[in-house]
Amino acid sequence: MSLVFRSKDLVQTPSLQIRLVCWIVMRIFVQFLHVPSHSNRKLRTLAKGLSPGLLRFGGTKTDFLIFDPTKDSTLEERELWELQGNQDICGVSSTPFALEEQLLIQWPIQEKLILEEQYWKKHNTTTITRSTLDILYNFANCSEFQLVFGLNALLRKGNSQWDSSNAQLLLDYCASQKYNMSWELGNEPNSFRKKSGMYIDGFQLGQDFVHLRHLLSNYSFYRNSKLYGPDVGQPRKNTQKLLRSFLKSGGKVIDSVTWHHYYVNGRTATRKDFLSPEVLDTFITAINNVFQIVDGTVPGKKVWLGETSSAYGGGAPRLSNAYVAGFMWLDKLGLSAKLGIDVVMRQVFFGAGTYHLVDQNFEPLPDYWLSLLYKKLVGTKVLHVGLKGADQKKLRVYLHCTNYHHPKYKEGDVTLFVLNLYNITKRLQLPYYLSNKHIDEYLLLPHGKDNIFSRSIQLNGHVLRMVDDKTLPTLNEKPLSPGSMLGLPAFSYGFYVIKNAKATACI
Ligand SMILES: *[C@@H]1O[C@H](CO)[C@@H](O)[C@H](O)[C@H]1NC(C)=O
Ligand SMILES: *[C@@H]1O[C@H](CO)[C@@H](O)[C@H](O)[C@H]1NC(C)=O
Ligand SMILES: *[C@@H]1O[C@H](CO)[C@@H](O)[C@H](O)[C@H]1NC(C)=O
Ligand SMILES: *[C@@H]1O[C@H](CO)[C@@H](O)[C@H](O)[C@H]1NC(C)=O
Repeated sequence: MSLVFRSKDLVQTPSLQIRLVCWIVMRIFVQFLHVPSHSNRKLRTLAKGLSPGLLRFGGTKTDFLIFDPTKDSTLEERELWELQGNQDICGVSSTPFALEEQLLIQWPIQEKLILEEQYWKKHNTTTITRSTLDILYNFANCSEFQLVFGLNALLRKGNSQWDSSNAQLLLDYCASQKYNMSWELGNEPNSFRKKSGMYIDGFQLGQDFVHLRHLLSNYSFYRNSKLYGPDVGQPRKNTQKLLRSFLKSGGKVIDSVTWHHYYVNGRTATRKDFLSPEVLDTFITAINNVFQIVDGTVPGKKVWLGETSSAYGGGAPRLSNAYVAGFMWLDKLGLSAKLGIDVVMRQVFFGAGTYHLVDQNFEPLPDYWLSLLYKKLVGTKVLHVGLKGADQKKLRVYLHCTNYHHPKYKEGDVTLFVLNLYNITKRLQLPYYLSNKHIDEYLLLPHGKDNIFSRSIQLNGHVLRMVDDKTLPTLNEKPLSPGSMLGLPAFSYGFYVIKNAKATACI
């Protein structure tokens, strides 16, 4: 079976004018859920592969976090700090094993916290010390990520205004260290009542953001720093109401509107959900809901996914960490860019649960490799693409200008990415006027007998794994001769760079 792009959708011949849908700046962000990250060589190599980007220190836990500038760091923290406190701050510690042990000790604690979040138990307040901030900042800075720090919004004067005194101590310290950071205030305020018994309405939260902006402008170092919010959960009815009143009250002081999205509940999600075009399309409705509110209150304001993954509650076991999770992830990146979302922050780079990009043994999972390939090949400009001869819900195609930072490619090249949700091989044919173009194929398939449940992935037939702790493998293309069909096996995804396409929108 052969499929054809409608030429009028891909390019308008003969001028090769590609319709520009929107500009995006897609940065893969990384989120650290609970504990600060550490100067682990492998982790840093993996993070650096995805840079530049944002590293968000946020989540439920940050609303129960108090900065204590006087507290001596715990023994563990001191050890961690010593590990990375060598001359070369971005260098590699000589004893990574101690660090790995620390992370593994933390693992069950994190796992427990995630489950607690799910059952909405009351949380206990914990403290964060100067050395924790140092470790966190240095990990971000050395991996070339901008740190986004979530301030505690549940510190209140009585039951009303936000009490900024602890934030001020933290800002004093970070400014004294010249830590260049961005800020958030509160995580999923729509469920504050469930988490803490405290209810804060959108108007008040907006006023709290205005207060925080004033506070930031009192520091010459943070006068122009970025502030994102309100990090609301899924845009259901009450949350929509909260978002609307927040934006009316505080929308003018934020740089981007952030919201969170998960497709399904990790405890009940099935293989079928992960392969369902209908489930993937629910994201479109969610995006439209958010844009409707933003357009009605702060039109033109940038909209970001401040936290997102396949399944909430830590991910779906055996699904969120396997090849099959790539459908939700790649489709989310494609739809976000197409519908005008600038930044997508993935829950989580490293941490407990199963939706991580890097697992507890520091092994990168299929979604890590998919993210890496996306960063390398996909540029920020989105192009319109259509398809004929197949159900566009089951054979999902996205087209961007190629990332021109890639040494092999140049301006005018375009990158197509395709998800095949059919249970049989599908073949795509490029329009006739592109039939003389060379194409680089990057086909990702599961590796091993677990098939789509595999945690190992192959690119053009080669299993992807790190060369050593400091080195990522090269991501080699498979050149296709001009006029070739693009063949995607059942339940697979891949990228195709059309070289020398001379797309004027990409020049
Ligand atoms: C890391 O720190 C250095 C030195 O302070 C600074 O020049 C650089 O811009 C920082 N990088 C990031 C990503 O913040
Ligand atoms: C900013 O500084 C001014 C002058 O020191 C002070 O009056 C004001 O309260 C400060 N604003 C905040 C939000 O802390
Ligand atoms: C912080 O980093 C951003 C982005 O790299 C940069 O534009 C800004 O000037 C920096 N701020 C300071 C105070 O150095
Ligand atoms: C593929 O899916 C169709 C329904 O869409 C079903 O009828 C058919 O049996 C499936 N084939 C295989 C090989 O699973």
